[in-house]
Amino acid sequence: MEGFLVRSPGGQGRPLRGEVRVGGAKNSALKLMAASLLAPGTTTITNLPDILDVDVMARLLDELGCTTRVDHTRAVVEIDVPEELAHHAPYQLVRRLRASISVLGPLLARCGRAEVALPGGDAIGSRGLDMHLEGLERLGAESRIEHGYVVAEATAGLHGAEVGLEFPSVGATENILLAATLADGTTVLDNVAREPEIADLCGMLVAMGARIDGIGSGTLRVEGVRRLSPVEHATVGDRIVGGTWAFAAAIAGGEVEVHGVDPAHLGIVLDKLDRAGAQVTRHEHGFGVRVERRLRSFDVVTLPFPGFPTDLQPFAMALAAVSDGTAMVTENVFEARFMFAQELARLGADVHVDGHHAVVRGRPRLSGAEVVAHDIRAGAALVLAGLAAEGETTVADSFHVDRGYPGFVEQLTGLGVDIERVELADLDDR
Ligand code: UD1
Repeated sequence: MEGFLVRSPGGQGRPLRGEVRVGGAKNSALKLMAASLLAPGTTTITNLPDILDVDVMARLLDELGCTTRVDHTRAVVEIDVPEELAHHAPYQLVRRLRASISVLGPLLARCGRAEVALPGGDAIGSRGLDMHLEGLERLGAESRIEHGYVVAEATAGLHGAEVGLEFPSVGATENILLAATLADGTTVLDNVAREPEIADLCGMLVAMGARIDGIGSGTLRVEGVRRLSPVEHATVGDRIVGGTWAFAAAIAGGEVEVHGVDPAHLGIVLDKLDRAGAQVTRHEHGFGVRVERRLRSFDVVTLPFPGFPTDLQPFAMALAAVSDGTAMVTENVFEARFMFAQELARLGADVHVDGHHAVVRGRPRLSGAEVVAHDIRAGAALVLAGLAAEGETTVADSFHVDRGYPGFVEQLTGLGVDIERVELADLDDR
């Protein structure tokens, strides 16, 4: 089993110093790749993150009849999409990538039928699909679950409709939006997610010829068109990875310059760090975070964008564990995210969870221990907590982290962190 080993002799490590370049957002690139299915011809996506999920999505597109060429050295994928697509997304691929559910909308729009295995993905809660399916039903698709697959059919084609989401789900917004671009008539999608990755997807769809009004707002109006054309599109910078580096500086101290992320996409996060005592400077395509002393604790409530992102919640908790004061962390999006708190407690954090609230009392430093990553963000947050944990911290199951952070170890090393990849004995064998 692979893991990370972080050494932090006095529990204060060395202050971080340096620059990091952030690539394209995982949560955008995968959806842009799915969107390519809407247009026969060759789509090119640039600023592609160098992560395994991209290769899994490419294999899924190949399975659907496309020919994909991923070039990680140039951060580009070219996708040849045929006139006739296959409509079966098999479990062996889908289970490795929750985002593969986003082929459902495009397949329905192009083929009038889709069979997509029920996804797996991160171990962070039940992650239902009810809003995806209800929305697609409003557009004229019938769906059922059969042998572990979502089987959806729109025998008479898709038509425009009014769809109000119960909650601004990112995945449901994307799937319904993708289907609506080729539906007959106008779709009004209300209470949609406003994450920057959705605006990125809308930007690509508009360039392809889709008619979408209200981009960036809570209501999208989509006038269906008959055909879309392939384009070249650059993926938006990964705000979650950018935010991770901001928290790295906040936890370890020092000064980090982050390039490749729009600081407006991290508005509330950078504001909170600023108010806690960090010096944040914002640029057009990046930001800097300078931390000279222990920060003051702050409360966090996760909410859909522009609220505090749930994906950065574990980092906020790790920071609170070593900040001055007490913080209340409230998780409103994924109920199981607090599995992370138990691992953080193994590092000596004073954290008490009650339902979807956690109270974290800051300590000057933590204490190195063996911990396990349960998902991408929890894994990365444990490594950062390790920067403030006296002695050695090992984080097992590093593969989770590699799914979201290309070159994680190299980038941390570049900032002055003492970290390496290690082979760990299986926990059960120890
Ligand atoms: C996406 C991101 C994930 C991020 C999340 C919220 C990808 C690949 N993943 O996940 O990193 O944490 O947005 O910003 O882009 N829900 C339902 N029924 C549905 C749909 C969602 O109950 O039909 C629930 C989910 O269980 C969850 C909440 O709604 O509790 C939010 O989910 P959603 O916004 O859809 O997140 P994802 O698209 O899965």
